[in-house]
Amino acid sequence: MVVHFGPCRIELIQGDITQQEVDVIVNAANSKLAGGGGVDGAIHQAAGPTLMQETRMLYPDGCPTGSAVATTAGRLNAKYVFHAVGPIWAGGERNEKKLLASAYSTCLDLAREHRCDSIAFPAISTGVYAYPIDLAAEVSLTTTRDLINQHKTPTLVRFVLFGPGPYGAFARVLEVLAE
Ligand code: APR
Repeated sequence: MVVHFGPCRIELIQGDITQQEVDVIVNAANSKLAGGGGVDGAIHQAAGPTLMQETRMLYPDGCPTGSAVATTAGRLNAKYVFHAVGPIWAGGERNEKKLLASAYSTCLDLAREHRCDSIAFPAISTGVYAYPIDLAAEVSLTTTRDLINQHKTPTLVRFVLFGPGPYGAFARVLEVLAE
């Protein structure tokens, strides 16, 4: 599914984010940037060991929840990996919505700073961190829509959803935003 917002577009696809050819691949990391399972494990495995070496060297103190940091992308077909740290879902009363929005907006800010025109996101926080997928779709897509409307870049924002459930949740929200 593709929806245009002025010169920019939001694309939804089902697939594996490590296979994308874009300027930036976003990782759903933890605040220690220590690696892990899920999309984090897949990205480190596909990118190779230089990703962790660079992350440790540049960001020994990790990255706060709701923010993101940039490294090069190793063997991935991308210029950069942005390691974004989403919130752990704790019922919705612990600032999770603001922190998730801020993880996305930091990545979109970094993309502009690095002059990157295409970026692929996973559904940050919706796996191990248990953020409900419908609520995550709402926050992720409205934050993205608002920022691309404001800055007119990056021109391609692709959400790579892992399976039909997450894809359906994102598609329902994007359909409403397209109206
Ligand atoms: N491509 C795209 N999406 C993927 C992939 C992949 N290869 N693998 C998993 N996903 C999806 C999951 O299905 C989920 O919808 O990414 C989403 C985010 O799930 P997680 O990877 O578990 O990330 P998150 O919920 O943000 O939890 C972060 O998990 O592995 C650890 O180090 C990571 O501690 C951190 C935590």
